[in-house]
Amino acid sequence: MEYRSGYGFPAEILADRPRMERLFDNKWFFVGMRGDIPNRRDYLKFSLFDEEYFLVHGQDGEIHGYVNRCAHQSARLLNEDVGRCAARIICPNHQWAFDANNGALIHAPHMCENFAKSEDGQTHRLDQIAIREIGTMLFACLGENPNHNEIDRMADLIAPYTAPFASAAHGYKRAYHHREIIDANWLLVMINNRECCHCAQNHKRLLALFDPSSFNGTTTPEYQALIEAAKTRWDAQGLAWKEMPFDPDENFRIARYPLAPGFQSITFDGRLASQKLIGPFENGKPDSSTLSFWLNPNCWVHFTSDHIATNWVLPLSENRCELYTSWIVHADAEEHEDYDPDHMKEVWLVTNEEDVGLCKSMSEGASSRYYKPGPFSDSEQFCTQFCDWYMRATEL
Ligand code: FES
Ligand SMILES: [Fe+2]
Repeated sequence: MEYRSGYGFPAEILADRPRMERLFDNKWFFVGMRGDIPNRRDYLKFSLFDEEYFLVHGQDGEIHGYVNRCAHQSARLLNEDVGRCAARIICPNHQWAFDANNGALIHAPHMCENFAKSEDGQTHRLDQIAIREIGTMLFACLGENPNHNEIDRMADLIAPYTAPFASAAHGYKRAYHHREIIDANWLLVMINNRECCHCAQNHKRLLALFDPSSFNGTTTPEYQALIEAAKTRWDAQGLAWKEMPFDPDENFRIARYPLAPGFQSITFDGRLASQKLIGPFENGKPDSSTLSFWLNPNCWVHFTSDHIATNWVLPLSENRCELYTSWIVHADAEEHEDYDPDHMKEVWLVTNEEDVGLCKSMSEGASSRYYKPGPFSDSEQFCTQFCDWYMRATEL
């Protein structure tokens, strides 16, 4: 069955693994925040289909990305999902040691004395992947010829929103992270994330944080008053707020939304998730809003006055994917003193779990012999945008 714009994907597209692999070879995708690996030698793993990769905070202060396989005899280099490696990346198999800054072989026990520095030794480097940092957000591209113009253009558009967070004197750290393997098709998880028609029924607690007009395309005098007051406040603080929509040539949407009156952060009770405010709010008051990013192909990230909640999803097979969520806070925030992880993480753990149930259900349905792609409604325009974009981005 052929893909038809405005409809969900045919089963053949959902199951087309080479097409998904093409996407991640050609497009930049979100893999975390600098705050996920704030200190030198910190690392964070991610998987895509059968391959494992890791980001590492190098001794040079830059974030680098590698395939998690030794250049000697392909043993796995790092076993934990997150952690801190030695000053060099040392393979647990025969202890070959690699430079975290560039993947070069530094030391090769059991080989002749000068092997690591020899011409042959220098050909045995870690396989590196391209990483770019934009305003503390980290992006990877797996292909050999990543499109730097594309990420430069994205940086130009994103930077005004993230700059006040990136330029803050304080650093960031991860307060908590959660990984989940989901038995669902990766494309269906992303499509679910791009629409809100399911929200009223399925995310009742999350919706209490927002005025309904934030999402349902309608407006009321109360919402008008809320948004006008917010824009005045944001302008006075120099915070970028203009909505940047998805369009056929872009792969992102950014919006700053006011939270419901009385809410200071994305928490179910509206209280701050962390007492140490971040970025532009560090020395002032919290703002009742969220700066939210939905970036194709794989993430949604929400900046509030006190923390950053990140979510990325990557495919592991045609019917399985991995969701990684992290909560990033001020580097000096103290657990239990400034923040309670259980309080901070509740909104996205609950909301994501609600979505996971729906995504599994749709994935099972898409495997049925009765499956037919259904149409998106006008208010599901971001799903149409995502699907059209995906088809264009993966054309041969
Ligand atoms: S496989 Fe890594 S050192 Fe041998
Ligand atoms: Fe949802």
